[in-house]
Amino acid sequence: MELLLLLLLPLIFISTAAHSLPLFLPRAAQSLISKSNKYPNLPYIAHYFPQELDHFAYRRRSYGVFYQKYLLNSTFWERGEPIFVYTGNEGDIEWFAANTGFMMDIAPKFRALLVFIEHRYYGVSKPFGEESFKSAENLGYLNSAQALADYAVLIRSLKQNLSAESSPVVVFGGSYGGMLAAWFRLKYPQIAIGALSSSAPILQFDDITPWSSFYDATSQDYKDESMNCFAVIKKGWDELMWFSMKNGLSELSKLFRTCENLHSVYEARNWLWEAFVYSAMVDYPVEANFIRQLPANPVQKMCRIIDGFPPEVDILTKVFSAASLYYNYSGSQSCFDIGHEADSHGLSVWNWQACTEMVMPMTCSNESMFPPSAYDYEQFADQCMMTFGVRPRPHWITTEYGGHNIKQVLSRFGSNIIFSNGMRDPWSRGGVLENISSTIVAIVTQKGAHHLDFRSATKEDPTWLIEQRKEEVEIIKSWIDRYKGDEMI
Ligand SMILES: *[C@@H]1O[C@H](CO)[C@@H](O)[C@H](O)[C@H]1NC(C)=O
Ligand SMILES: *[C@@H]1O[C@H](CO)[C@@H](O)[C@H](O)[C@H]1NC(C)=O
Ligand SMILES: *[C@@H]1O[C@H](CO)[C@@H](O)[C@H](O)[C@H]1NC(C)=O
Ligand SMILES: *[C@@H]1O[C@H](CO)[C@@H](O)[C@H](O)[C@H]1NC(C)=O
Ligand SMILES: *[C@@H]1O[C@H](CO)[C@@H](O)[C@H](O)[C@H]1NC(C)=O
Repeated sequence: MELLLLLLLPLIFISTAAHSLPLFLPRAAQSLISKSNKYPNLPYIAHYFPQELDHFAYRRRSYGVFYQKYLLNSTFWERGEPIFVYTGNEGDIEWFAANTGFMMDIAPKFRALLVFIEHRYYGVSKPFGEESFKSAENLGYLNSAQALADYAVLIRSLKQNLSAESSPVVVFGGSYGGMLAAWFRLKYPQIAIGALSSSAPILQFDDITPWSSFYDATSQDYKDESMNCFAVIKKGWDELMWFSMKNGLSELSKLFRTCENLHSVYEARNWLWEAFVYSAMVDYPVEANFIRQLPANPVQKMCRIIDGFPPEVDILTKVFSAASLYYNYSGSQSCFDIGHEADSHGLSVWNWQACTEMVMPMTCSNESMFPPSAYDYEQFADQCMMTFGVRPRPHWITTEYGGHNIKQVLSRFGSNIIFSNGMRDPWSRGGVLENISSTIVAIVTQKGAHHLDFRSATKEDPTWLIEQRKEEVEIIKSWIDRYKGDEMI
């Protein structure tokens, strides 16, 4: 059983989630403007841009056009003032817009235009509609370089249409979107004057970051709460196997309150795994609903559940109860649909990306709270071949965008990038955590989690978070001031 880690979700290798959204827009939709419907109160208007299928070849097929969705809010914008662009990542763009309130919060101060661009093949921006995922032939146009080129082409067109040639563009992105934002600044400096790249593990490739760091960091979060919590979860995996061998799957299904009987013990294992890993990623200091509705400090809350049981209670009950917090914080689940979770954010396409260029090797060390596992590249590549008919190119990302010796390389090339990371987020270990130059800076918070800085400000925000956002705003302002100063000359 291979677990593939998605930037946002550790998915089981082959997702069973059906592709939904049969929303390929016909040609007539070229000028279509619609109010978004998935998040009815989202303060953006959706537009669809006729985007070229293949920016890098001149075959007949390359010139095919698909409709790329983007969201716009021009309420605060004044001509000549900045354009803030979110470089969409692996999901429906409305989901990211709804969870990146930071850009809206700072727009009035900058009198900025806000643009969120959907990543090709996600949401409704599918080049071949429902056929997009049918074959490598159709999926082959899904890669980061095409996505960056999409953003460049779209931004140029938008600036032209709005007569906004003089407006400086700043790109924003979180997670994989943060990688794209940073890479966009490096590849298209003529289009973006700077990038805020939040929780972007651009060093998670090749052997730049130790392969065990993601799960070691996850484990550290639980260890920080209590050694008992860590130890109980660590023992839980063996207990799960024993229980299932001794009592069978139907007893296990009862214990886990599943809606239907489990088909395999691995369904239960993945269910627990997801709860512990995601809670570490989104271990926000305030209540939030990014992946799911969760309380403030979910890791602490899970550990309190585990530590609150008398020692004689069996381990599986403890870990199940902790994981239930993740799946049932709202209290609305009458049973758990383990093994049939819907892909509500449309993320399953990520497996293609993970099987081609986004190869991020991961292991579980014996120090972690997960069962130790090695990384078997050949096995992974064979599975990709079986699923998609292609083999990965594991070194392409570092060839295309760099990553090795990043400090040496970027201190002499490039400028105006903020890499922000919160150390509670397991992905932070693959991020840029050191200042590279006076204009390529790392903003690190010990208690932050996965692109926490991008969330809307709330009354409960701790001081360190307020300070972090303030520092980011000041840096962005300095880029814009400098740009405007240069323009005068
Ligand atoms: C743009 O955002 C502002 C502030 O959130 C909101 O008042 C306005 O209605 C939005 N505009 C559109 C077109 O949604
Ligand atoms: C700019 O205008 C052209 C012509 O109307 C249109 O085809 C294109 O989609 C517009 N660009 C954007 C980014 O909306
Ligand atoms: C979910 O939480 C509610 C409220 O605490 C509880 O009544 C229900 O049994 C829980 N569901 C499961 C499957 O444990
Ligand atoms: C953990 O792994 C290390 C290196 O792989 C090894 O030296 C050590 O003995 C292992 N510890 C345990 C408790 O298995
Ligand atoms: C990088 O420099 C900024 C000041 O420009 C500072 O606030 C920040 O703490 C530094 N980051 C690290 C990781 O030292």
